[in-house]
Amino acid sequence: MQNFNRPTAKIIGTGSYVPERVLTNQDLEKMVDTNDEWIVSRTGMKERRIARSDEYTSDMGLAAAQKALEAAQIPADSLDLILFATLTPDYIFPSTACLIQTQLGATKAAAVDVQAACTGYLYALGMAKAFIESGIYKNVLIIAAEKLSSIVNYKDRNTCVLFGDGASAAVISSESPSGVKGLAVRDVSLGSDGQLAQLLILPAGGSRKPATHETVDGNLHYLQMEGKEVFKHAVRRMESASKESIDKAGLKEEEISWLIPHQANMRIIEALAKRFQVPMEKVFVTIHKYGNTSASSLGIALDELMRQKTAQKGDNILLTAFGAGLTWGASVLTHE
Ligand SMILES: CC(C)(COP(=O)(O)OP(=O)(O)OC[C@H]1O[C@@H](n2cnc3c(N)ncnc32)[C@H](O)[C@@H]1OP(=O)(O)O)[C@@H](O)C(=O)NCCC(=O)NCCS
Repeated sequence: MQNFNRPTAKIIGTGSYVPERVLTNQDLEKMVDTNDEWIVSRTGMKERRIARSDEYTSDMGLAAAQKALEAAQIPADSLDLILFATLTPDYIFPSTACLIQTQLGATKAAAVDVQAACTGYLYALGMAKAFIESGIYKNVLIIAAEKLSSIVNYKDRNTCVLFGDGASAAVISSESPSGVKGLAVRDVSLGSDGQLAQLLILPAGGSRKPATHETVDGNLHYLQMEGKEVFKHAVRRMESASKESIDKAGLKEEEISWLIPHQANMRIIEALAKRFQVPMEKVFVTIHKYGNTSASSLGIALDELMRQKTAQKGDNILLTAFGAGLTWGASVLTHE
């Protein structure tokens, strides 16, 4: 018999992990021609975390995933799918998702990486929602982890002050175990514009420019960004994606209780808060302590919000992100 009850995707557990080592603005002053005042006033960043040389994207992702499974109170072998969002995978192949699948003991799960740069968490969330609401899968684990320190040039002051390492994860399910409060995924709205691919890019190491002495000498294995241009598009795209997602969730802008924006620049965060009239005490900010952790950034902030237990039943949480590709997106969650 046909089942007319469409399952609803819910986040039933979140987790995050950041490495121990702290890199402060004062540390950076000793490495490049910069200063604390410039970094704080232009970005809002004070420090960021840097992984050990023997600590990999998969290790950080695994730590976040274990916490998310613990919060969701489900065993790893009940997972149907693992989606791993990253632009710094352990290897180009095999996928980091497969490495995690075996480390977790998720014996029944399919596993694949998702590459949407800083919007990776939202792309993975959107895919998880689609798999669950179509009835294909019941339990999906999304992980977003980045070892950005492996692709940052610590001689380039334009980029090296901005990025940090870290990981986040969430279990998305059609059912919540009793006692577990979920976050209903009301909508995920995504977008892209490949015409602007050159604005934020890792030029070499792929099939177009495989590693050679010249690519290494030319610093082409480090990320490159046209910061000012990226800034302009970031504000515009996150604003329009957020509006779309609020509309599709059937809500009004004034019904948003919390704003979690991608943690790339405090000035972008403040512009979005103003646009959606969310007071700064309801804007979740981690940028001062972690910098920009790319795909992981939204999930780390969401996990910290959930663990502080300051969000209340019925609160609507707006997530929005923007990144290389260009890619962007937004999502509205409602606290049960
Ligand atoms: C990167 C960013 C912080 C730069 O801020 P900005 O106000 O645009 O600054 P500019 O790039 O115009 O640089 C201004 C000056 O500061 C200098 N500067 C750059 N980095 C510096 C640093 N770390 N310390 C000191 N001076 C620095 C520049 O060389 C430039 O000097 P000049 O005027 O003599 O040429 C900002 O553009 C930004 O956050 N962009 C968006 C990033 C983003 O959203 N990424 C999301 C995708 S992950």
